[in-house]
Amino acid sequence: MERKAILVVDDEELIRESLVEFFEDDFDVEGAGSGEEALEILERRNFDLVISDIRMPGIDGFEVIRVIREKYPRTKTALITAYDVDDYIKLAKEKQITNIIVKETPFNFDELGQTSHNLLTGEFFGIHRYLDYDAKIEQLTIQETEAIQLTIGKIVDFFRGITNDEEIFEVCDLILDELLHNAIVHAPRDQDGKPKYDRTAQVVLADEEIVHVAFGYDQRKLGFAVIDNYGTLENSTVLDLLDRHISGSGTRDYQGRGLFISRSLTDRFIINIHRGVKTEIICLIYFTGDHDYVKPLCINEI
Ligand SMILES: Nc1ncnc2c1ncn2[C@@H]1O[C@H](COP(=O)(O)OP(=O)(O)OP(=O)(O)O)[C@@H](O)[C@H]1O
Ligand SMILES: [Mg+2]
Repeated sequence: MERKAILVVDDEELIRESLVEFFEDDFDVEGAGSGEEALEILERRNFDLVISDIRMPGIDGFEVIRVIREKYPRTKTALITAYDVDDYIKLAKEKQITNIIVKETPFNFDELGQTSHNLLTGEFFGIHRYLDYDAKIEQLTIQETEAIQLTIGKIVDFFRGITNDEEIFEVCDLILDELLHNAIVHAPRDQDGKPKYDRTAQVVLADEEIVHVAFGYDQRKLGFAVIDNYGTLENSTVLDLLDRHISGSGTRDYQGRGLFISRSLTDRFIINIHRGVKTEIICLIYFTGDHDYVKPLCINEI
């Protein structure tokens, strides 16, 4: 099989070299030391994926992506930064950027490999992709708002098999409550595309509307995925809402906190949207102490 081509753009040589080295075994990879150089290289050949640093002298990462989208629409893109992703949410919203990878120390190569694989193949769905291959994973379905607490109880009990950190259970409880509620009341739409249920209603879903929850853990982290069968969440809604809360203008919003809180309290927050088919929201929490609390931006839409 022909190897996929990746272009890594970063003005810091050490980082560029280490990324190139990481991809070398499996990909046809090149490095560019600036936005200008990246655009030159792109003139001469095709790449399947371009991963670009945001802040660079001259042409920055946002501009590199803008040009790629215009000239090479088939090339997948992601930004990467050593800075706080939250500082870039407003720009991401304006420029419709949905993937920002973080440079952590030590660098999380597992995650880089997996994010790149997902972008290259378009295979985002499924919590198994985000846990190690030997992870323990189970599934449940939920059909009514009344059953939310019971479902959460079962999931938390399952997590007791790997950790006894009560704080993590509290976080899981809070977030699952938000996400399950969202999936049951917000996802369903009527024929006119309007929300089918009131946000405060007790809802019993029809069989075909049933919500799935997958949950599991490996040696370092646990996580869950809440999946609805509508695919009505929009990435602009998510970016808007994150921006409102991060910029401070949304702190007093009575509504629209569920997704923001879920991202804030977890280490990895991944949104996968297959429009009109399903939305999957995945939360991962590292229970080993050696994890930095930097959060990437990861919204995938197919
Ligand atoms: N699974 C989903 N499918 C479709 N839309 C969704 C889904 N989850 C969230 N949304 C949309 O995103 C918005 C924000 O959700 P979020 O949970 O952050 O706030 P909320 O549910 O409106 O209020 P609350 O603070 O009570 O959770 C919702 O109002 C809804 O429009
Ligand atoms: Mg909500």
